[in-house]
Amino acid sequence: MKTITALISLVSVATAFLSPSGIASASGLASNASTNGTGAPPCDLLIEAGLADRVRFPSDPEFELRIQSYWALDTRRRPWCLFMPHNATEVSIGLVALLEGKDNVHKGAGDWHIAVRGGGHALGHSNNIEDGVTIDLFYLNETTYDPATNLASVMPGSLWREVYPVLHTQGVVVAGGRDGDVGVPGILLGGGSNYYMGEHGFGCDTVRNFEVVLADGSIVNANEDEHRDLWRALKGGGINFGIVTRFDMEAFPDIPISYGMRTMPGNASEQFVDAVVDYTDIQQQAFPKDALIATVIHVSGVEILATAEVNTAGILNSPGFDRFARIPQLTPFAPVVTNLYALAPVTSLPGGSWSVFETLAFRSNRQILNYIVERNRQLATDIGVAIGPASFLSNLIYQALPSFFADISADQGGNMFADILRGHNAVICTIEIMVSSTQRDCALAVTLLREFAADIRSYSVSIGADHPLVYLNYADPAQDPLGSYPRRHIKHMRKTARRYDPDGLFQTRFPGGFKISRVRK
Ligand SMILES: Cc1cc2nc3c(=O)[nH]c(=O)nc-3n(C[C@H](O)[C@H](O)[C@H](O)COP(=O)(O)OP(=O)(O)OC[C@H]3O[C@@H](n4cnc5c(N)ncnc54)[C@H](O)[C@@H]3O)c2cc1C
Ligand SMILES: *[C@@H]1O[C@H](CO)[C@@H](O)[C@H](O)[C@H]1NC(C)=O
Ligand SMILES: *[C@@H]1O[C@H](CO)[C@@H](O)[C@H](O)[C@H]1NC(C)=O
Ligand SMILES: *[C@@H]1O[C@H](CO)[C@@H](O)[C@H](O)[C@H]1NC(C)=O
Ligand SMILES: *[C@@H]1O[C@H](CO)[C@@H](O)[C@H](O)[C@H]1NC(C)=O
Ligand SMILES: *[C@@H]1O[C@H](CO)[C@@H](O)[C@H](O)[C@H]1NC(C)=O
Repeated sequence: MKTITALISLVSVATAFLSPSGIASASGLASNASTNGTGAPPCDLLIEAGLADRVRFPSDPEFELRIQSYWALDTRRRPWCLFMPHNATEVSIGLVALLEGKDNVHKGAGDWHIAVRGGGHALGHSNNIEDGVTIDLFYLNETTYDPATNLASVMPGSLWREVYPVLHTQGVVVAGGRDGDVGVPGILLGGGSNYYMGEHGFGCDTVRNFEVVLADGSIVNANEDEHRDLWRALKGGGINFGIVTRFDMEAFPDIPISYGMRTMPGNASEQFVDAVVDYTDIQQQAFPKDALIATVIHVSGVEILATAEVNTAGILNSPGFDRFARIPQLTPFAPVVTNLYALAPVTSLPGGSWSVFETLAFRSNRQILNYIVERNRQLATDIGVAIGPASFLSNLIYQALPSFFADISADQGGNMFADILRGHNAVICTIEIMVSSTQRDCALAVTLLREFAADIRSYSVSIGADHPLVYLNYADPAQDPLGSYPRRHIKHMRKTARRYDPDGLFQTRFPGGFKISRVRK
């Protein structure tokens, strides 16, 4: 029991703060704007545009600190240089230089490309690049709050654990990330599951305005009145339209919330699944201030069931979680009442491993959810045989998506995916695998993971428990989240991409992330 408790705390408590939040400003050193050039075309284009002070090469200590601050080991790639702008104007100048500079995309053995990094927490190599330049938005990190409009302005270089303390001093909070190490832009452009969903919807639904740098360098605001098409497309549409330099989010009073983590033995999984289904079908709507994350963890050959149980009004032991309370517990349940700014840093999952995830949604249905838990045991065994049981940790995560979430999103102007929730209560199922040994071991695990996902998907179809949604923020690059959205929203995203990026540069020059041009017509 001691080891299980130790393992649980290993899993649940943040022990590593990878991101160096206090890097000294390095103005003055920068690179040399020699007329002979650096030999790296995109880096030269930036230097020629007068941005030499904002370019970092691998020889620069700040470059390596930034690479090491990527969450997953496999995303710590080293581009030819980093572009680290300080404001939206600089983003614009740099973007135009990179996209319009004729200094040759097609030099040498292949094209160079561009990546954009916010928090650097995403998996699947969407946020960095080997051959080309990464735009690292680290210095766009200010958080402000305007009581007159009740809008909190958050910037794409911030992590949520940096945002919440600033807002707390103003007595407010926003529907951002639960894990404090996750970045602002990735979450909000892909949806944003959060503790306030039962009342306020996805994080993106609470964005009242995006400031966006478009491919032609213009800086526009997208909101209900101005560039409304772009405002809607950015809510779930990812990196297809521009680089967002500010998110203005509706703020809520920073009321202390209750948080408890419950742990249960693997042999209680049927009761656990019953409780997840009951929560999704009944309790989430009855208790909209509750939030649940239900996970099945495999670590060192042991299976543990765990929940994070939250009530955003600070109510301890909310009746919405009664079904979970009746399951035998491995450790005493000891919820606390605290504020999100204090909670987010200590509920962060440490990075630094080879990490992958894959996600599917299913109807809220016992048979499929039990099948997945069962099949997941096989997956953990198979990975253990392939790479050793101590080389990885796997996390099967169930999150409730009851159909009424679609109405919450619609009431706030609508996003690109939530309409798909209409008609059936759904459970989003994500499998995350973190491999501590080698990249090869991770590749072996990924192969097994993809087979697992194909299996549970086809089983769900065979019993009529499948659900179309592929939630962008947890999707593997081999999946097609944008293609899972309602047809009319796919059309809207295509039209909006054409309007704001007529040359399709975000489709061709930014290979990372999910592209609307790749969705099948
Ligand atoms: C442990 C863990 C916990 C998580 N918790 C949650 C959660 O609670 N809720 C949730 O919804 N998701 C969650 N996620 C998923 C998370 O939302 C994504 O990983 C997200 O992309 C991370 O955001 P980021 O800013 O750190 O992303 P980055 O890795 O920096 O970027 C992600 C993508 O967005 C693009 N991008 C970055 N900045 C911009 C910009 N300014 N403009 C346009 N495009 C941009 C990048 O090019 C890339 O394609 C979690 C993931 C993990 C591993
Ligand atoms: C830039 O180049 C000049 C002239 O070659 C050299 O004296 C200087 O040290 C260089 N600066 C840096 C930062 O490399
Ligand atoms: C450019 O290269 C030439 C030839 O090697 C050299 O003489 C000159 O000093 C270089 N200029 C700069 C600014 O580094
Ligand atoms: C952006 O930074 C530049 C310095 O590179 C500065 O001249 C400019 O005034 C800044 N723009 C804004 C809008 O703050
Ligand atoms: C933003 O980044 C700068 C440079 O690292 C740092 O000095 C500052 O404290 C950061 N601001 C916030 C709000 O985190
Ligand atoms: C379930 O597992 C727990 C912890 O390993 C054990 O104490 C308990 O006896 C098991 N229950 C059943 C019914 O097997």
